[in-house]
Amino acid sequence: MKPLACLIAAALPCLALAFAQEPAPAPKKTPQDDASYIGAVSCRSCHRSKAKGEQYVHWSTKTPHPNAYDTLASEKSKEVAAKLGVADPQKDPACLRCHATAFGVDAKKIEKSFKPEMGVQCESCHGPGSYHKEQRLKAAAAKGADAAQAASNTTLDIPKDEIRLPTEAVCRSCHNQDSPTYKPYEHKEFLPKVAHPNPQRKRAAEAAPADGAPQAPKTGG
Ligand code: HEC
Ligand code: HEC
Ligand code: HEC
Ligand code: HEC
Repeated sequence: MKPLACLIAAALPCLALAFAQEPAPAPKKTPQDDASYIGAVSCRSCHRSKAKGEQYVHWSTKTPHPNAYDTLASEKSKEVAAKLGVADPQKDPACLRCHATAFGVDAKKIEKSFKPEMGVQCESCHGPGSYHKEQRLKAAAAKGADAAQAASNTTLDIPKDEIRLPTEAVCRSCHNQDSPTYKPYEHKEFLPKVAHPNPQRKRAAEAAPADGAPQAPKTGG
């Protein structure tokens, strides 16, 4: 029995590794895959109320992501770029791919409302938002509400494939050693700094902030 046990024991870590590194089974196409980038300002009207977690406000005032493009014009950035032989960081793919949103995306999928200088925007983490916005406006219109009322929506029930919620892999697509100023990325430590949960909604524990921000409502258990 010993050789077999050894074989299994030896195989287990490999399996675990395979699971940790292999991307999830080929995800099926969602409507969001055909969506285009509309920019953070287009999300603001519907995602700035305190009652729902003021995502826009948190992103723009409490995280460095909206400054990521401006950072590329700093003295430090010029030093970093010079060492790598990059002449203008704000124009070079070597920097823009992580310091901007939708970099390299087909121009047809970038709406006029999109502002590249707003750095790492909502759609860097959540993917393109045009489909989601359309669906929300349609749903509001079906109820006889106008755009302003749609913005003060109260519904929590939207289809899961309308707009994605980022996994750790999304964060690591930029927070990795390709960054010339890489700081070791610790998801548990970094996530709470950018999280902006809706206090009306219950979510998995790992998505919850660790800083005592409001928790989900007291509905049943
Ligand atoms: C017309 C209103 C409207 C606009 C514009 C809008 N949203 Fe939403 N969004 C909603 C509503 C309603 C919900 C469901 C309630 C909630 O989670 O706040 C929602 C939910 C979400 C969710 C949670 C999805 C889930 O599965 O739980 C994300 C993420 C999101 N929006 C991101 C965005 C981003 C990014 C933009 C801009 C690109 C955007 N929204 C623009 C209305 C809107
Ligand atoms: C498109 C690339 C990109 C993605 C995706 C991304 N980030 Fe960032 N992040 C950056 C850049 C660039 C900076 C530095 C911005 C600056 O200082 O101007 C940064 C800075 C940060 C900081 C501040 C770090 C510090 O040392 O002050 C935290 C925290 C952070 N990100 C967390 C996250 C988390 C959590 C996720 C995933 C949910 C994520 N980021 C996804 C590019 C990204
Ligand atoms: C793989 C993604 C990635 C690439 C490529 C990248 N960065 Fe960054 N950059 C980040 C992230 C993430 C941060 C925040 C923390 C860190 O350094 O890991 C950051 C932070 C910075 C900072 C702030 C550092 C500080 O300590 O204040 C500067 C300056 C910077 N980057 C310049 C550049 C320049 C110039 C280039 C192109 C030559 C570049 N970056 C390319 C991801 C990237
Ligand atoms: C750095 C990555 C990042 C950026 C940028 C970002 N988000 Fe998020 N967002 C997240 C993460 C992580 C979650 C939690 C995902 C989960 O619960 O699994 C989230 C959740 C949400 C939710 C659902 C909240 C809930 O609890 O129901 C909404 C709505 C949302 N984001 C809107 C936005 C909007 C609008 C912007 C831009 C103003 C934005 N996000 C920018 C990472 C990001």
